[in-house]
Amino acid sequence: MTAAFPALRMRRGRSAPWIRAMLAEHRLHPSDFILPLFICDGDGCEEPIAALPGVSRWTVDKIGARAKQAHEAGIPCVALFPNTPGPLRTVGAEEALNPDNLICRAVKAVKDACPEIGVLTDVALDPYTEHGHDGLIDERGCVLNDLTSAMLVQQALVQAEAGADIVAPSDMMDGRVGAIRTALEQAGKCDTAIMAYAAKYASAFYGPFRDAVGSGGRLKGDKRGYQMDPANAAEALREVALDIAEGADMVMVKPGMPYLDVLAAVRQRFEVPTFAYQVSGEYAMIEHAAAAGAGDRDALILETLLAFKRAGASGILTYHALDAARLIVG
Ligand code: PBG
Repeated sequence: MTAAFPALRMRRGRSAPWIRAMLAEHRLHPSDFILPLFICDGDGCEEPIAALPGVSRWTVDKIGARAKQAHEAGIPCVALFPNTPGPLRTVGAEEALNPDNLICRAVKAVKDACPEIGVLTDVALDPYTEHGHDGLIDERGCVLNDLTSAMLVQQALVQAEAGADIVAPSDMMDGRVGAIRTALEQAGKCDTAIMAYAAKYASAFYGPFRDAVGSGGRLKGDKRGYQMDPANAAEALREVALDIAEGADMVMVKPGMPYLDVLAAVRQRFEVPTFAYQVSGEYAMIEHAAAAGAGDRDALILETLLAFKRAGASGILTYHALDAARLIVG
């Protein structure tokens, strides 16, 4: 039998900062974060993204400095996303396989400027297709799994060749993790890791991201034919099990805060590093709430990020990574 009131007073453990610090079950550290960075074409430019207040697209010549800044703040890894110039977006998404495309140039620029930081690249065709879907489509607009997967394999190889440390398939095609792993091994890229967007939901929280990469206005229909139904949790465990079996080194649950139950369930079931993506709409929600006076911005940032740790996240992709790292270190 455990003690009961008044012998037990839970508030004793909350009575001063020192004891709260001593009893904290979870803590944030800058190494928990992966910072997403958006790349745009051109030279010498920073393009603020209206839908993501405080976040910009950077040209390749400026991206190295961003990565350095992240490294200096203790952030171990950046995730790069390109805003491909309009004329290079096609039905066949050929630009995704161009070894000199925006993302490959950005990977090299980051590695040149800051070899110490990890670089993660997104494997999916949405920044390259004319229609904004993550894959190749048939005449009815349905995304074709196997043809898309074959392209993703090539895309992952091109990114790995450019220097990406982690390739992260975010497209939700079936079988692509295994196909990418096999191809990386055959190409001698045995150190290139795969972080699978294993449980990625068809979410309304991706809107600002789609503006940031320029795919939003183009998108015909929605992504429910390949991304998961927000109604499902057991299905997420099957998705994660499959990606692990296919060779994923790490898995991800996305979006973040509305899916903490899924994150916790994955973490309890599997012994695999599990990341959460606090997505663009969640970032925007916090920024707009703070701007409207609905809460203290710093406190909102730290509380939401700590919630991911409590739910079991190994790390968090967040647009607040730099702010959070600075807040933690002080
Ligand atoms: C594209 C991709 C998306 C995000 C990451 N990779 C958008 C989508 O699936 O439509 C969303 C990230 C965010 O909202 O911050 N495959």
